[in-house]
This record gives sequence, C-alpha cells and structure tokens, in this order.
Amino acid sequence: MSVHDITLTVNGRKVRLTVKSNELLLNVLRDRLLLTGAKYGCGIGECGACTVLHGRECVLSCFIPAVCADGWEITTAEGLSKDGKLSVVQQAYVDKAAIQCGFCTPGMVIASTALLYENPEPDEAEIKDYFRGNYCRCTGYAAMIEAVKVAAMRMKERGCDDEEL
Ligand code: FES
Ligand code: FES
Repeated sequence: MSVHDITLTVNGRKVRLTVKSNELLLNVLRDRLLLTGAKYGCGIGECGACTVLHGRECVLSCFIPAVCADGWEITTAEGLSKDGKLSVVQQAYVDKAAIQCGFCTPGMVIASTALLYENPEPDEAEIKDYFRGNYCRCTGYAAMIEAVKVAAMRMKERGCDDEEL
C-alpha cells in the first residue's frame, strides 16, 4: 500500500498528514483529527451523513480518498461555530427543534449552510431540492426546512453577509 503526504486546512487549522492511498477523507476527519460530526452512514455516497464543506461546496467525505483532498480547505460541523457561539444555521436548527436523533444533523447543517452561500433567500421548493442528497431517517424534514427559512430571514434582518453564516 503506498502512502502520501498531504496538507489539509480543516476548520481553519492547517494539518499535515501521511495517508494511505485507500484512506478516506471521512476516516481522516473522524479517526485521526477526532472531528466526529461527519458520520458514516451508507459509505456509498447516498445518504449525506458524511457531508462537509470544501470551500463553499458540499462534498461527501465517505467518497473521497484523502489523497485527493490534498490542499483543500474543509469545514466540518464543528468548524461552523465561532468562539463558542453557534452559527446562524446551527442556532436556527436548535430554535426550530430540527434535531431528533441527531445522526443526520451535522450533514444537514452543512448542506443548509452551503445552500445559503449559494442562494441567500431560497424558497421552500429550492430548500427541498437541495436536501435531495441528505437523508433523515427520523424524517424531520419539515422542521429543517423551517430552520433554513429562519436562518435566511435572520441573515437578511441583520444585514449579515454570507461570511457570517
Ligand atoms: S456516508 Fe457518505 S453519503 Fe452516506
Ligand atoms: S434526526 Fe435522526 S436521522 Fe435525522
């Protein structure tokens, strides 16, 4: 098995790692960096539980060899909060009680954040469409859709730019 040296920026922190060619980004995040927000759900790119941000775009970390992420800037659910304060999206999920067992929640929150980067005022159909790749086994979608709407409204009311998401 070959090994490779890679550099990642994860939640603003640069890390250098030696990874095996078959090591997945999800395993690096969870097992080596102890960032357990991203979850192993299906392992085949179907459920979205492992979703993290690469820059401002969602990626499925169960589906990406770590070596292919060399040089990437990654944000996990842990990296959304700043100085102990939940992000706008995280707070909206709490306020709308959009969490049941919580297994899908980090991936959903990341996907919601990416959606608001892309479209700061999504309508319900656009939110539903964006959630196509993220499954909630507890089927709590209605509250999550409300949470995205609340986050969008708060961003607009506060005149926040998307750097503050
Ligand atoms: S665990 Fe990655 S998509 Fe399901
Ligand atoms: S809250 Fe349980 S899987 Fe979504």
